[in-house]
Amino acid sequence: MVPSVLALLVLACASTAQLPPSSDWQRTIIFIHKETSPSQYVFLRGGLDHSRRPDCVHNATVDPCSIPIWHIWTTRYGKYNAWRQGDNFLDWYGPEWGQGMVESINFPPQGTPMMWTTDASGWCDPNDMACYYQGRLTMNDPDYFNAERAGFGYTPRNKWGEHYWMLDVLMDCSRTWEGWFNVKAYLTPEREWEPDIWQRDSCTSCRYMPPPSSRNHMARCGVTNVFQWGKPFPCEIFPNHPDPALPDNY
Ligand SMILES: *[C@@H]1O[C@H](CO)[C@@H](O)[C@H](O)[C@H]1NC(C)=O
Repeated sequence: MVPSVLALLVLACASTAQLPPSSDWQRTIIFIHKETSPSQYVFLRGGLDHSRRPDCVHNATVDPCSIPIWHIWTTRYGKYNAWRQGDNFLDWYGPEWGQGMVESINFPPQGTPMMWTTDASGWCDPNDMACYYQGRLTMNDPDYFNAERAGFGYTPRNKWGEHYWMLDVLMDCSRTWEGWFNVKAYLTPEREWEPDIWQRDSCTSCRYMPPPSSRNHMARCGVTNVFQWGKPFPCEIFPNHPDPALPDNY
């Protein structure tokens, strides 16, 4: 017994040098409204603000300002699926080492991929003949054409309209700033950062204290956050509802 206890202690000490000893994985959902054309993609960047942690480093794997995430959905849409591979952190730096590429797109993924969503149930991609002609109700699986399965489209979590880009992941809330973290969208192929905003006051929410002030959107870990590109308001933070079901293969 003694050697293994020692080994555990050594491991515990080694790992606390880089990472907090505990992790706290919670379903975290972010929407950012940005009107886009079909050839544009919105990625998400973020984590902790470098001004709050002087020890941040420009390498997501070891950076204490990067927040571990786990993409929940495996979709039919090749681009989202490629870009989610190897995307293990919400970070500030764009492509992660080993993150998936899409051959037809001549740039690497510029952060964490989001899904284009709409609130219109029954919405079909005009190029998706199966959806267009058969209609979603004829399918055995009513969720088959939902964004979480198709990679873009309708999701019941979107209550607001078209062009609400969504991130739906498990996130290690123990790596946030008392539950808060920063996010900013990044538009491709323009390679355009979302402009700075000045987030000082609370978003609409019944439970959360005002966030730390920031040039970025301040999001809460473990809940749903809804933001507008380049604007501090309106924004909304609320418990995940309806609590989204996890996929069968999860
Ligand atoms: C980031 O850090 C990891 C772990 O130390 C290392 O293996 C990797 O090569 C680094 N990546 C870059 C791009 O420096």
